[in-house]
Amino acid sequence: MPTVTVPAPITTAIAATGVLIRPARRGDSRRIAELVRIAADGVADYIWSTLAQPGEDLLDVGARRYARDGVAFSHQNAVLAEHDGAVVGLMLAFAMPPRREAEAGVEADPILRPYAELEVPGSLYIADIAVADGYRRHGIATRLLAVARERMRAEALDGMSAIVFAANTASRRLFQNHGFAVVDRRAVVPHPMIRHTGEALLYHAHP
Ligand SMILES: CC(C)(COP(=O)(O)OP(=O)(O)OC[C@H]1O[C@@H](n2cnc3c(N)ncnc32)[C@H](O)[C@@H]1OP(=O)(O)O)[C@@H](O)C(=O)NCCC(=O)NCCS
Repeated sequence: MPTVTVPAPITTAIAATGVLIRPARRGDSRRIAELVRIAADGVADYIWSTLAQPGEDLLDVGARRYARDGVAFSHQNAVLAEHDGAVVGLMLAFAMPPRREAEAGVEADPILRPYAELEVPGSLYIADIAVADGYRRHGIATRLLAVARERMRAEALDGMSAIVFAANTASRRLFQNHGFAVVDRRAVVPHPMIRHTGEALLYHAHP
């Protein structure tokens, strides 16, 4: 498996001034996949494993997916935090279809069904948010959520939504402190690649 580049830690002073928030480009696709991998606690790896060619590295599958245009899981829906030329944070978000379009049927894969059922139609769905180790607790995720809020308002979406594992205390605190509340939940279907059991929680923040 290829090594994930770990950027050097930052000081509080640099964090306040030196972190650039910018839209992603196609060339960021591999780094997007690395950070999605951190955010998804094994769910992305599981999805990529269902799409991989025999012997294909899972990160290559992820990078290929984010290099696409015009789909939800595209670099076009990613916002990055950059420090000193290194990408240290990611948010991937897209508008969920309104309910009438969402009646697309039941997710066939029982491992993925709980996440497919946890939807707020019409909301801006924050599919992934992650900040590299050593850069956390400097307000980077807060800045990424501010970008999401701007997009939610600009596109007149029905708030913002996110799925969080119940065991992920940091992420739950992040969303709760930014106006999100739990509106639904499902039991996680255990799988060796998925790092949590217990529950997955659907969070929603009103516009
Ligand atoms: C969750 C995560 C994205 C937060 O990023 P961050 O840049 O450190 O978050 P911020 O600095 O903007 O923190 C905002 C608030 O969230 C809460 N929070 C963040 N990390 C926390 C932690 N480890 N423990 C408790 N609360 C935490 C705090 O209320 C914090 O405000 P404070 O620092 O003023 O107390 C980051 O910890 C991460 O990447 N975790 C691994 C990936 C992940 O779990 N992603 C979410 C998947 S749903």
